[in-house]
Amino acid sequence: MPDSANKTIGEFVAEDYRTAAVFERHGIDFCCGGQVPLAQACREKGVDPEQILSGIEAVKNEPVKRGENYAAWELPFLADYIVNTHHVWLKENDPTITAYTRKIAQVHGAHHPEVIEIATLFEKIATDMDAHLREEEEVFFPAVKRAATARKAGQMPAPEDRETIKKCLEQLRREHEEVGEAIHKIRHLANDYAIPSDVCNTFMVTYQKLQEFEEDLHKHVHLENNIFFPKAAQL
Ligand SMILES: [Fe+2]
Ligand SMILES: [Fe+2]
Repeated sequence: MPDSANKTIGEFVAEDYRTAAVFERHGIDFCCGGQVPLAQACREKGVDPEQILSGIEAVKNEPVKRGENYAAWELPFLADYIVNTHHVWLKENDPTITAYTRKIAQVHGAHHPEVIEIATLFEKIATDMDAHLREEEEVFFPAVKRAATARKAGQMPAPEDRETIKKCLEQLRREHEEVGEAIHKIRHLANDYAIPSDVCNTFMVTYQKLQEFEEDLHKHVHLENNIFFPKAAQL
């Protein structure tokens, strides 16, 4: 137990993604705030660590689906997976969510001023994410792929690729934290996405979409922060 208590939430989740569900159930942040040790996270949330550990034991005893064993994938494959699932989802959905949040701010802003702030926050998230995804797809992932290919062939990666990776890692982590904070703020403003009784369907759909965005972001950032980045840092 003392050993597990010092392990960070991110480490648990990197080892086995299914443990994320246990942390989520107890309101423990496994994504952007995942760098804290289990004991500390439990203290902050007033949760018994033994309860978490037995939950982790339980999910670990279920057989792993081969298609979800992200930690075992090679970096180029994981990069493509992230782009084809999470980046594609964001590119498809961000413009819609931006338009919806704007619309409900116009229609319901007078009675629900929080949606005006939500629209402003999401607009910034969408703009920032656009640049973030571009940086990953055009600069960071290609450098990682070249470096991984060199390593596989028993060669040293090019110094400029190693330099790019180092610089990007710092910047991308910082951006993950910023977007994580912004979406937490939205959840707070939206009162955990409880739908008020006097609103239209667009309002409801917007809140559902925002929740979907948050869920997708948690998984996306987890794959990068806890699995992809530590491996890329070793190249
Ligand atoms: Fe990404
Ligand atoms: Fe990212």
